[in-house]
Amino acid sequence: MLITGGSGFLGSALVDLARTQGWNVVATYHSRRPQTQGVRWEALDLRDRAATRALVERYEPDVVIHTAYRQEGPHMAAITADGAGAVAQGAYVAQARLIHLSSDVVFDGERDGRYSEADTPQPVTAYGAAKAAAERLVVAAHPAALIVRTSLIYGGPDRPGRHERFVLDVIDGRAEAIFFNDELRCPIEVSDLASALLELAALDYKGILHVAGPDVVSRYEFACMVARAFGRDPARVRGGPSPAAPRRPRNCALDSRLAQSMLATRIRGVRDVLG
Ligand SMILES: NC(=O)c1ccc[n+]([C@@H]2O[C@H](COP(=O)([O-])OP(=O)(O)OC[C@H]3O[C@@H](n4cnc5c(N)ncnc54)[C@H](OP(=O)(O)O)[C@@H]3O)[C@@H](O)[C@H]2O)c1
Repeated sequence: MLITGGSGFLGSALVDLARTQGWNVVATYHSRRPQTQGVRWEALDLRDRAATRALVERYEPDVVIHTAYRQEGPHMAAITADGAGAVAQGAYVAQARLIHLSSDVVFDGERDGRYSEADTPQPVTAYGAAKAAAERLVVAAHPAALIVRTSLIYGGPDRPGRHERFVLDVIDGRAEAIFFNDELRCPIEVSDLASALLELAALDYKGILHVAGPDVVSRYEFACMVARAFGRDPARVRGGPSPAAPRRPRNCALDSRLAQSMLATRIRGVRDVLG
């Protein structure tokens, strides 16, 4: 199994779980080489499309899980969109099962209710546009790919992710922010997502699949839950509406019932996990 972004938050959880499940794992990093043993680590720069394709083809993996990306910066589109296309080209030549990680922000967030797999992406941010472009490039290069759209990934007190660390930075006075009470997401715990992805690796389902938590919460509610779970006072979390400009995707709630119906892994709601 080749896991791109093995040095990242989801990638490192995937690397750990895949190893315990007996997979022979090759994982990539870009700037930080992890110390995890029992894994073959490869440096990768997704901006180098030829090298990216060559790496995937060289290992002839049975499965590729592509998590690596950039959310911002001058090279965001080259890394997040074109890089994903190169991974997919390599995976196609290697005849590998490909799972590509995508995002709820491919949607504009203007609807009431949840987005299903049949809904059409309409991104309103540069990052959302890059993830939507990545989806198109991946399917064009590897028609049997599985594209998994997910939402805020968190880990709880034992494995906090960047969203949780940011909430703590604000509460503890290292950063300032208002947490939007009109921006809705379906947070998913990182080990639930890793477990679901490894199950999906063994299936042949292709196309789009939404894999996010069942609970819809605002960023403000999420921040209050994080505060409580990490022993802080939720009264220190400031909530408010998101600004009118620049435009942001507000309601990105995903309907993940199809995924849950095919998985043994129970995707827990954030209220169950962080309470
Ligand atoms: N986090 C969320 O809440 C969230 C929500 C929805 C969807 N997703 C999707 O889930 C996936 C994983 O997210 P994450 O939060 O786990 O990511 P993350 O922790 O930010 O990790 C990103 C990974 O990409 C690698 N990377 C960065 N630039 C690269 C480049 N030029 N070439 C190759 N690799 C590069 C990083 O390597 P180094 O660290 O070694 O530099 C790191 O391993 C992404 O596809 C994202 O779109 C995430």
